[in-house]
Amino acid sequence: MIHYTAGILLFVALSCLAVESRNFDGGVLKLPSEVSEFIHGGSNNDGDSVGTRWAVLIAGSNGYWNYRHQADVCHAYQILKRGGLKDENIIVFMYDDIAFNEENPRPGVIINSPHGNDVYEGVPKDYTGKDVTVGNFFAVLLGNKTALTGGSGKVLDSGPNDHIFIYYTDHGGPGVLGMPTSPYIYGNDLIDVLKKKHASGSYKSLVFYLEACESGSIFEGLLPEGLNIYATTASNAEESSWGTYCPGEFPSPPPEYDTCLGDLYSVAWMEDSDIKNLQNETLKQQYELVKKRTANENFAYGSHVMQYGDIGLSKEQVFLYIGTNPANNYNFVEDNSLPLFSRAVNQRDADLLHFWHKFRKAPEGSPRKLEAQKQLLDVMSHRLHIDDSIKLIGKLLFGIEKGPDVLKTVRPTGQPLVDDWDCLKTLVRTFETHCGSISQYGMKHMRSIANICNAGVQKEQMAEASAQACVRVPPGFWSSLHRGFSV
Ligand SMILES: *[C@@H]1O[C@H](CO)[C@@H](O)[C@H](O)[C@H]1NC(C)=O
Ligand SMILES: *[C@@H]1O[C@H](CO)[C@@H](O)[C@H](O)[C@H]1NC(C)=O
Repeated sequence: MIHYTAGILLFVALSCLAVESRNFDGGVLKLPSEVSEFIHGGSNNDGDSVGTRWAVLIAGSNGYWNYRHQADVCHAYQILKRGGLKDENIIVFMYDDIAFNEENPRPGVIINSPHGNDVYEGVPKDYTGKDVTVGNFFAVLLGNKTALTGGSGKVLDSGPNDHIFIYYTDHGGPGVLGMPTSPYIYGNDLIDVLKKKHASGSYKSLVFYLEACESGSIFEGLLPEGLNIYATTASNAEESSWGTYCPGEFPSPPPEYDTCLGDLYSVAWMEDSDIKNLQNETLKQQYELVKKRTANENFAYGSHVMQYGDIGLSKEQVFLYIGTNPANNYNFVEDNSLPLFSRAVNQRDADLLHFWHKFRKAPEGSPRKLEAQKQLLDVMSHRLHIDDSIKLIGKLLFGIEKGPDVLKTVRPTGQPLVDDWDCLKTLVRTFETHCGSISQYGMKHMRSIANICNAGVQKEQMAEASAQACVRVPPGFWSSLHRGFSV
C-alpha cells in the first residue's frame, strides 16, 4: 500500500515535471507509460514507449553433472545484459556450485558451448545455494519481499507497462519442475502464482521460456488465455528434453570436460539471440527457428518445442522482452543458418554420462576411480529402485495385467495431467515416505502417480501398496534421508 501511494505521488510529481519541461523547451508531454519507467527503475529501450524490461532466470539443479543448467542461465544473463537490461531488473537463481567446483577444469569460468567464452563473469548472485527455493521463486515473481528468506532481496517490482521475461532450465517431469532444494515446483502452484501476478496488474505482458523434460505438461490444459502470457517449452507434455555439447557426442565439449555444456532448446534460443538484431525478429519467428533446431528431424534426438497461452503475443518483437545487442546487425532469415546437432543426450541420462566419463578417465586404482564407480552404482541402483517400486505399486493397486496400462495412460491433448493436484502431492509424499525421494530421475514417474490419483486411489491404499513394495528407504546418496522430499 505504502509503495503504491508513493508511486502515485511520484507519478504526480513526474507528471508536473513533464508538463513543466514542455513549457520550458516546447518538448513533448511525457506519456504515463514513460513516467512509469521512471517509477519502476528506468527504461532500457531506444525510445519506444515500452515499460521496463524485467527478467527472472532460474537454474533448478545443482551438482557438476548438471553443469549445463547453470551454464544456460549464465549465458541468458549475458544476453540480457548486452540487450540493455539493468542488473537491478534481472533476478538470478542459481545454486552456484559450478564455477568453483573441484571438477571444473577452468576454475571460475563457465562456458555454454565448446568454443564459447566465459559466461559466469558479472552474473548477479541474487539467490544461491539453499536460497534457491520454490518459496523465494514465487515471492520474487509476486514482488513480495516479506515472503523472502535469504538472498539479495531483489524481486519483480514491476508496473503495469512493464514486460517480464522468465527463463527456467532444469530437469522436470509431468507436472513438476526440479529445484536444487526441496520441495519441487508443481505446475498448478506455478500457474496460480502467474494468475496472481496478472491480477495484481503489475505487467503488460510476460514471456516464459521453459526447458525441462515433459515441460509442456506445466502449461498444457493449465495456462489459460487472457493472462497476457506467452510461453514456449522445450518439449511437449510427454517427452524428454535434451542436453547438448555432451562428452562423446557431436559437437563435443573440450576434452577436459566430462559433462554436457548446454541444453538443446536453451542453446537454440540463446545462440539465435546472440547474433540477431532482435528488433527485427518476432517471438513467433524465434519460436519457429528454435522448434526446427530442437526437433532435429534429421536425427534420432530432439523434442517438440510447444507454445501456450496468448499465442497472439508472439507477433511482438523478441526485443520487447530481452532487448538486443546493438552490435548485432544480423536480421531474421527464414532458414536458420545455425547448425543442427547430430548428437544430443536425454536430460535424464546426462548424469550417467558424467559419472561414466569420470570413471573411464580416472587412473586405474585411484581414489577418483573408486569414487566415480560408487557414484555410478548409486545412481543406477536408485533408478532401478524407483522404477521397480512404481511398477510394483501399479500392479498391487490395479492387478498384474492392468497395472502397467493405468500407469502409462496419457490423457488427450489439452487436458491437464491430473484433476486433483492435492491428491498428486499427497500420493507423491506417501510414496516417498515408504520408498525414498523420487529425486531428479524419479520425476519421470509423476504421470504414473497422477494416473493413480485420476483412478480414485486414496492415500491409505497408496500407503499400503508403497509399504508392500518398499521394505525400507534405501540409504544411498539419492535417498530422501539426505535430500528431503519433493513435496
Ligand atoms: C506476502 O507474503 C506474506 C508472507 O508469506 C504474506 O503474509 C502476504 O499476504 C503476502 N502479501 C501479498 C500482497 O501477497
Ligand atoms: C529487418 O529485416 C529486413 C529483411 O531482412 C530488412 O529489410 C530490414 O531493413 C530490417 N530492419 C531493421 C530495422 O534492421
